[in-house]
Amino acid sequence: MNENIEFLQAFLKNPGKVGSIKPSSPELAQKMIEGIEPRKDNAVLELGVGTGAITKFLQEIVPDDRSYLGIELDPDLVQLLKRNFPDMTMIRGNAVNTTSIHQRSGIGKIGYIICCLPFVSLPNEVGEKILLEVDKFMQQGNCTFRTFQYAHGYYFPSAIKLREFMRDRYGKSKKSQLIVKNVPPAYTLSWSTK
Ligand SMILES: C[S@@+](CC[C@H](N)C(=O)[O-])C[C@H]1O[C@@H](n2cnc3c(N)ncnc32)[C@H](O)[C@@H]1O
Repeated sequence: MNENIEFLQAFLKNPGKVGSIKPSSPELAQKMIEGIEPRKDNAVLELGVGTGAITKFLQEIVPDDRSYLGIELDPDLVQLLKRNFPDMTMIRGNAVNTTSIHQRSGIGKIGYIICCLPFVSLPNEVGEKILLEVDKFMQQGNCTFRTFQYAHGYYFPSAIKLREFMRDRYGKSKKSQLIVKNVPPAYTLSWSTK
């Protein structure tokens, strides 16, 4: 089945959790992985893998199955991901449990967090818990957190809250130019303790 249709089906089933009607475009995906060099002791953690729009670019630079961990909530999408990316470690789970999922996975130190979760449409308390989980990896040092925010939602309270949470701890974000070749147009934002 076409990736766009699978994504749309997931959105129709759970609009708030999916948060978009289309997977990220190749232009956004490439910006999300720019400069990333995954290794076993510097692994990539992808939160909210969806249909794998970013994963297919990550796959090109991930050297082995110990250098990547993907977490996705939707069981149908996880099934699809396992089929399409048999060499990548995909876990069906909730990002609020990221640290325990990571511990159980046996994957080494996380050096990059590629976060595609729709904070704008997630309940506040879920977003807060996930940020606290992310922070545990950042606190270990040598870690980059990267996410994207859609232009139309950039000033929504939850989008501002995420930026404030990260800015208070890790300073001003590195923000990309507006990626217009994405539906909807989006910015990427990165914070790093590298
Ligand atoms: C905006 S989509 C992004 C999908 C894909 N990474 C992309 O860029 O096209 C967000 C994804 O996050 C997943 N998701 C939402 N809440 C989640 C949670 N608490 N834990 C893990 N995944 C979650 C949704 O099921 C959905 O697949």
